[in-house]
Amino acid sequence: ADSVYLHQIFNMSVKIKALLKTAPEGQQVTVQGWVRTFRANRFIALNDGSTLGNLQCVVEFEDFDEALLKDVSTGAALKITGRYVESQGKGQAAEIQVEDLLIHGTADPESYPIQPKKHSFEFLREKAHLRVRTATFSAVMRVRAALSFGVHKFFREEGFHYVNTPIITGSDAEGAGEMFRVSALDAKNPPLDENGNVDVTQDFFGKETHLTVSGQLEAETYAMGLGEVYTFGPTFRAENSNTTRHLAEFWMIEPEMAFFDLNDNMDLAEKFIKSVLTYALENCQEDLTFLDQRYAQEESSKPKLERSEMGLLEKIQFIVDNDFKRVSYTEAIDILRNSKPNKKKKFKYIIEEWGADLQSEHERYLVEKHFKTPVILFDYPAKIKAFYMRMNDDGKTVRAMDILFPGIGEMVGGSQREERLDVLQERIKAMGIEEEELWWYLDLRKFGSAPHSGFGLGFERLVLFATGMGNIRDVIPFPRTPQNASF
Ligand code: 4AD
Ligand code: MG
Repeated sequence: ADSVYLHQIFNMSVKIKALLKTAPEGQQVTVQGWVRTFRANRFIALNDGSTLGNLQCVVEFEDFDEALLKDVSTGAALKITGRYVESQGKGQAAEIQVEDLLIHGTADPESYPIQPKKHSFEFLREKAHLRVRTATFSAVMRVRAALSFGVHKFFREEGFHYVNTPIITGSDAEGAGEMFRVSALDAKNPPLDENGNVDVTQDFFGKETHLTVSGQLEAETYAMGLGEVYTFGPTFRAENSNTTRHLAEFWMIEPEMAFFDLNDNMDLAEKFIKSVLTYALENCQEDLTFLDQRYAQEESSKPKLERSEMGLLEKIQFIVDNDFKRVSYTEAIDILRNSKPNKKKKFKYIIEEWGADLQSEHERYLVEKHFKTPVILFDYPAKIKAFYMRMNDDGKTVRAMDILFPGIGEMVGGSQREERLDVLQERIKAMGIEEEELWWYLDLRKFGSAPHSGFGLGFERLVLFATGMGNIRDVIPFPRTPQNASF
């Protein structure tokens, strides 16, 4: 009830979330929100985004102007003052008897697209500026906000420092994906050099720059001074991946820790994921219960064989309660090579030999069919992983680890970093990267180098898992994907 009074100090209205937790005793209150439905010219279901539930506000129509009530329609913004009383009807414990009604803004029913009926997610993606006014999207976005807080809470409590790595980057050596170029030159009439190429020295930064694909390399520099750090920011990849798991702009959480080896790294990643999901379970009960029901409904419309064996809440609890299975790449290849879909050529990419890159069909087989639990794969072949991963003594595998999740595939990618200058230089050369570009990164190996590790978790993939939504475009407010950057 404390927060009821807090909000009253600000704008004389209470949040519906706080009100619904308060005993109705005929007290006068003011609420503000948007109309979800207006039934029988009498019952307004009002939602203010503070909680999933609507507040029923009852209008005695003889008390109000007919013209005013005509403007109370789905989507309109209202300020309502009235008595908060026990509900006369079924379906809710309390309601407001409206005494005063102000319409901040109407919503013409002919053109307001979010009507009280089932809209497809495809349709709502085109109305991304209004979709948060539906129960599903408001629940997803509240869970997203809570998960984000859970991330900061976890790292803060573990003694990590939050660092903000640059979004515009002058190094494109990470090799994590295709990059978007950043330029302030006139695209139609750029300055040219004597060879007729665009003269990037005349661009804003005097060189080619891009949007970052990862904050890792810069985070490493900070780990080598602050000890344990993490970034949590937007990252950008211009790959043409039109899947339900890829965005061109997504948020990544990247911790980086001095003096951590790969095992420490895996322990931290597992603890981190469990902690953040636990935070959501404890703080988003109402929204997750709603999303659990939505998920169950959606699953029940699928063919029996494709249905998930667990409900959403069950799946989250399962992750929290069970150890992730740790398996080397080499073991995984053996399992995959001998698997039914490989022998019967059901995989699109047949696993023939050690060294093959794993596709999401293989990752999902391991997680969903073979182990039936999250899997941490480690010690990948050097040639399918980035230059910075620490070489093992066998000379052919690196200290990489990926965490694979049921229904999602890759949730985390990370590694122990190569801290030995000569080994790192050799790999940079072998991968055809310009050493000069990484001069500052190599400096870390010249001055006080130490073993260190880190990983990256795609935040939207975590939100996708936690909300049981089917498409990553529906767990970020304004998704950016190939051919789509509206809003
Ligand atoms: O595996 P990735 O490419 O790893 C890195 O970028 C490392 N620098 C991380 C590190 O060690 N600090 O990406 C990390 C994670 C993936 O596991 C996946 O969850 C997510 O980022 N991810 C994407 N999420 C949404 N859309 C995309 N296009 C994504 N690409 C990667
Ligand atoms: Mg990866």
